[in-house]
Amino acid sequence: MFLAASGVALVISLATLILLGGESGSARAEANAVTFPPIEEFEHYTTVERGASTEHMMTSREALAALKAGTSVPVGTHMVLVDYREGKVFRYFVSQKIGDGADEWAFQWFHPDRSIKVDENTARCFSCHRSRADSQFMFTLPEAQAFGS
Ligand code: HEC
Repeated sequence: MFLAASGVALVISLATLILLGGESGSARAEANAVTFPPIEEFEHYTTVERGASTEHMMTSREALAALKAGTSVPVGTHMVLVDYREGKVFRYFVSQKIGDGADEWAFQWFHPDRSIKVDENTARCFSCHRSRADSQFMFTLPEAQAFGS
């Protein structure tokens, strides 16, 4: 009887641990609001060669128009870095505007099959991109603004 009860208690505390683990990892991939973008509809506005990577930067036409006009991109906007290695998609880096505030951006790493890389600490993406808070969290804002002109 006692053993059974402590077994239950153990199961409950394990479940609590797992739940708490999920909570404290809210900056991590699995608890994140970023959705996979509709890249088939996006414009490829610039390419960056970085070592073995060929990075195609993509976003929506609406976002490009807003960037050109110097206004905030619409809430929900995705920025995409498609990382190609040896001609094949190696991964997708995605940022998404998730609210009206200037720093309301979230980040995600997707595998080629578009599943989330669950062990990625996306807080790292955010902290580096935050240095571009005055440029809508983008490193390639000038290229996006120059696209098509
Ligand atoms: C140490 C700094 C740093 C970190 C960490 C970082 N990035 Fe970036 N990111 C850059 C730079 C610099 C560029 C411009 C392209 C280049 O130079 O390769 C860029 C470009 C991008 C772009 C294209 C739009 C833009 O901002 O120009 C996206 C989308 C992106 N990163 C998403 C991510 C995601 C998702 C992560 C985490 C999984 C991440 N980044 C981590 C520096 C960083």
